[in-house]
Amino acid sequence: MTTSSPRPGAASTTRVDGPSGALRGVVRVPGDKSISHRALILGALAQGRSRLTGMNLGRDVLATAAVLGRLGASVHLTEPQVQVDVEGWGERGPHEPDDVLDAANSGTTLRCLLGVCARATGAFTFTGDGSLRQRPMARVVSPLRAMGARIDGRAQGSLLPLTVRGSSLTGLAHTLPIASAQVKTALLLAGLGAAGSTSVTEPRPSRDHTERMLVASGVPVGRRALTATVAGGGKVSPGARRIPGDLSSAAFVLAAAILVPGSDVVVPEVGINPTRAGFLRVLAAMGADIEVEPAGEWGGEPVGTVRARSSALRGVAVHAEEVPALIDELPILAVVATRAAGQTLFRGAGELRVKESDRIATMAAGLSDLGAEVEALPDGLSIRGPTPLRPAEVDSLGDHRVAMSLAVAGLIADGPVTVRGWDGVDTSFPGFLTTLGALRSGGSSGSRP
Ligand code: S3P
Repeated sequence: MTTSSPRPGAASTTRVDGPSGALRGVVRVPGDKSISHRALILGALAQGRSRLTGMNLGRDVLATAAVLGRLGASVHLTEPQVQVDVEGWGERGPHEPDDVLDAANSGTTLRCLLGVCARATGAFTFTGDGSLRQRPMARVVSPLRAMGARIDGRAQGSLLPLTVRGSSLTGLAHTLPIASAQVKTALLLAGLGAAGSTSVTEPRPSRDHTERMLVASGVPVGRRALTATVAGGGKVSPGARRIPGDLSSAAFVLAAAILVPGSDVVVPEVGINPTRAGFLRVLAAMGADIEVEPAGEWGGEPVGTVRARSSALRGVAVHAEEVPALIDELPILAVVATRAAGQTLFRGAGELRVKESDRIATMAAGLSDLGAEVEALPDGLSIRGPTPLRPAEVDSLGDHRVAMSLAVAGLIADGPVTVRGWDGVDTSFPGFLTTLGALRSGGSSGSRP
């Protein structure tokens, strides 16, 4: 496997030389990105010090840490232990910053912190990179406005840059048209500073880290069917938190193990929250040899060891109900589907079009360049397998999950696959190539506490 940056400033590329020999070993993956964002934000809201271990140190989480720092939280990182101490602003609330807040590539940073700033004192202007500046924000801006938030920005406040002027909010009962954990989190965090109660109802369950982590931090959250409710005035307590490995990152190594003949890979201490584990359920339905051994809970989050071995696969149909629990894993599942017998169909996944890239279009283009039989649908993908994959140069458009998915495709291709836009991978999984390399030599890797 070689990584090359053709010239300074140019998008980097990685070449994966398939077909790969068996992948074997035990690997740890970086801390869960969604939980890391929330742990930092809850630490900032609390009065006092929180010690967070196993933090994800990808660019997205670092963007949250930097914004929280500008807002007056003290965030100290001890890199070798992936440990972060956060001293929150508590009752004082965030400072009014003296500059624009940059959420970089991170929708979670932006949407969650809009909810926090909506109830603060001062003006807060957010921007982000070229991808985030194209992503839809009306879904979070309109319900926050309905709570009394003053938000203005480009395209009537539906696109970055956005300015929030903190104000007093009133609780709201809001029904989301599309399941979104980011929007749900923004509303619940705004609701903690609003008069009365705030409830969010979703059409299907999205990841529930915020609800679990609020409860673990001493804030009661009412949960009934698809509705989560908080009362205004809830105080977040500081505390120690251990962050499990990210199942969304583990997905790439587990999928690689399933696809590459003779492989056997174990990922310990990874989050297996059912609202995130749709990937494991779909792999099992495809006939994959995948085992999950639960190992208790860390701060309300289920954790376990996942083992995957190379397997013969059959195509499956994945429908809208299951999509929120595997939305970030659909690109890698699309690669897995190229090896499954028959048709694999992903429907009800139109949200993929508004992620870091239009993941339906990017994956369809990448897989078809590799010779897969793939069709882009308005709300998903149809893939027929098994098809051999051929050597090619493919473009991830800088989207981290697309880049890693196409690199895994390279492991089963008949020759080298070059992935453009590789530097996006540091968004969520710094060290991805080292982890894959360790498995290729049958070792172990990853150093999480
Ligand atoms: C996330 C929620 C999901 C997911 C994203 C992270 C989160 O987006 O795709 O990568 O941490 O809350 P939605 O808010 O659209 O569900």
